[in-house]
Amino acid sequence: MAKVLTFAQQKGGSGKTTLLTQLAVVYASGGGGVGRKRRIGLIDLDPQRTLTSWMDERIRGRGEPDMDLIESSEWRVGTDIGKAARDSDLIMIDCPGAADVMLNRVLRETDLVISPVQPSAPDVWATRATLRAAAKQGADARVVLNRVPPVAWWQRKWRRCLRRKAPS
Ligand SMILES: Nc1ncnc2c1ncn2[C@@H]1O[C@H](COP(=O)(O)OP(=O)(O)OP(=O)(O)O)[C@@H](O)[C@H]1O
Ligand SMILES: [Mg+2]
Repeated sequence: MAKVLTFAQQKGGSGKTTLLTQLAVVYASGGGGVGRKRRIGLIDLDPQRTLTSWMDERIRGRGEPDMDLIESSEWRVGTDIGKAARDSDLIMIDCPGAADVMLNRVLRETDLVISPVQPSAPDVWATRATLRAAAKQGADARVVLNRVPPVAWWQRKWRRCLRRKAPS
């Protein structure tokens, strides 16, 4: 049964698509601690189609035998997840920033939500809504601190801040 990872964060520009593409490459090549290659089904739910452009470039540059991409939308996403599940071990869904109704629809089919957050108060506030939505739909969720300077005290500060301000 394919696992579904959804990259969601109400705040635009937090790093959803960047993190998704990096992890997709790691998982497809057998990294990420599992040690075997996985077939990845990418689902692009963002009308900006950044993920689709990334995939087009990748195919042009080197070919991409280990990933398929579906350009999807709110009303088709259930069917598209089913379609991707037939051919993939892992489905990775890229959501747009503001995605209320769409997000709830996707979260019902999601095993794990990954939510990148940058070190600013508005990013942390926006994370609450995403974590609440995930909890409501019974999806597990993880927050990834993005673009935090690689200094231990900064990382500790933002981890503390997230725990205080963005409880699930
Ligand atoms: N860790 C990082 N280091 C440097 N640049 C980054 C990092 N993460 C993201 N970026 C840059 O920040 C910008 C926004 O990233 P990205 O498009 O992944 O965000 P997003 O959450 O998908 O945005 P949107 O909500 O518009 O879909 C991009 O220019 C990306 O290259
Ligand atoms: Mg994006």
